[in-house]
Amino acid sequence: MRIAIIGTGYVGLVSGACIADFGHEVTCVDRDVAKIDALNAGEIPIYEPGLKDIVASNVRQGRLEFTTCLSKGLQNADAVFIAVGTPSRRGDGHADLSHVYDATREIAAALKDATVVITKSTVPVGTGDEVERILRELRPDLAVAVASNPEFLREGAAIHDFKHPDRIVIGTNDERAKKVVTEIYRPLYLNHAPILYTGRRTAELIKYAANAFLATKITFINEIADLCEKVGADVQEVARGIGLDNRIGSKFLHAGPGFGGSCFPKDVRALIKTAQDQDVPMRILEAVATVNDMRKRAMARKVAIPFAGLLRGKTVAVLGLTFKPNTDDMREAPSIPLIAALQDMGAKVRVYDPEGMEQAKLILANVTYCQGPYDCVENADATVVVTEWEQFRALDLKRVQTLMGCPVIVDLRNIYRPDEMKKHGFFYTCVGRASNFRPVDGYASADDDPSQRGSVASESAPM
Ligand SMILES: NC(=O)c1ccc[n+]([C@@H]2O[C@H](COP(=O)([O-])OP(=O)(O)OC[C@H]3O[C@@H](n4cnc5c(N)ncnc54)[C@H](O)[C@@H]3O)[C@@H](O)[C@H]2O)c1
Repeated sequence: MRIAIIGTGYVGLVSGACIADFGHEVTCVDRDVAKIDALNAGEIPIYEPGLKDIVASNVRQGRLEFTTCLSKGLQNADAVFIAVGTPSRRGDGHADLSHVYDATREIAAALKDATVVITKSTVPVGTGDEVERILRELRPDLAVAVASNPEFLREGAAIHDFKHPDRIVIGTNDERAKKVVTEIYRPLYLNHAPILYTGRRTAELIKYAANAFLATKITFINEIADLCEKVGADVQEVARGIGLDNRIGSKFLHAGPGFGGSCFPKDVRALIKTAQDQDVPMRILEAVATVNDMRKRAMARKVAIPFAGLLRGKTVAVLGLTFKPNTDDMREAPSIPLIAALQDMGAKVRVYDPEGMEQAKLILANVTYCQGPYDCVENADATVVVTEWEQFRALDLKRVQTLMGCPVIVDLRNIYRPDEMKKHGFFYTCVGRASNFRPVDGYASADDDPSQRGSVASESAPM
């Protein structure tokens, strides 16, 4: 089959490369000239494990090409995917559908034959109806069919997820569209990936409901973590204890600094807005959004605890900037509000991320960008682990201890063991587990500033 994909970002590029790998001929189209030039020069504009190889091999075999020219991409296409961004609309939190509708109008102008248009972008209920209306209005001569096929891949594991999906959702009542989309995914169906056929509106809602549910699960365990800290329980064991229950499941029960990224925050906001417009308030999701927003700055206060709440003049090393490991995506990363809060409290911030530094430089000002984790922690008063990159798990803790000015580690991803950290002489705190320094009630005065005393407020001095 010949497939065109409009939008060559995280989803469009991964989808294009994987669909080409199934054996179809794919043209990825993007309006960003620099992106297409880079791809045509063999460079991958994003960091996604395995993507470079799969792109290179399919380009070599003549099944995958990149262009800015939509009509070239649409030539003889059996189907065209819309995979453009749907960020939050400025001001009100609704999904901004301008890219989707622009792409629809451009498709209408360039189409030669009736084809199947498939929305892969995450779009609110009813968007497919509007896409169809625009196409019919602009091209009454063509019987174009519109289907919804939401994408569930996770950045960092995108190729695996695309090729081994938990399910493929195909939303359409049009038999031709159903047949075409099914044919695109036939190789996966042969691998027993379940296909769920449903109505277009239902498919659109499935995507939002899935992301909203996962965001709720994360927020729930984060609140349980806060309770664990107060009552002396261990959130990882609570998560395991509940996750072993098949009705609950163990995924998305990792306590941390709050969810971020290119999807969950904007999709939760958009679903709340859709529901409000229908007079169906989503109280649970409203709480999820608020609790999660507040959490990022609360994490900065956690960093301040060993310094009696006073971070002015302190140097804080931040390890990990991207919203999760194995991506360079900085969109709505928890590191952004966390660092802003640290700076508001007067801290000097040094940062390091294995893949996200280039993107971070477009967003984070007044921080010192470091060459590596050891460079980052040198002379720091506190180190905060914000993203659980593999390389941070295996740091030489002795070296970190020696390099730091004051051995305070705030592990927001629970990647270290409290007993081991204590053994290495760190004042260590994490999320929802035992720490070996205690909160100073009401934050003490500057006289009580632990760094002035050469130690931090501790429950028991580290050995
Ligand atoms: N990133 C993820 O992990 C993920 C996962 C599942 C679903 N989604 C959804 O997929 C959609 C795309 O997300 P993304 O992260 O790939 O976005 P992205 O911002 O990385 O990429 C979008 C691309 O579309 C291009 N574009 C915009 N308008 C265009 C037009 N008219 N013609 C040609 N190109 C155009 C942009 O230049 C950009 O390269 C969103 O709706 C998102 O919610 C994303």
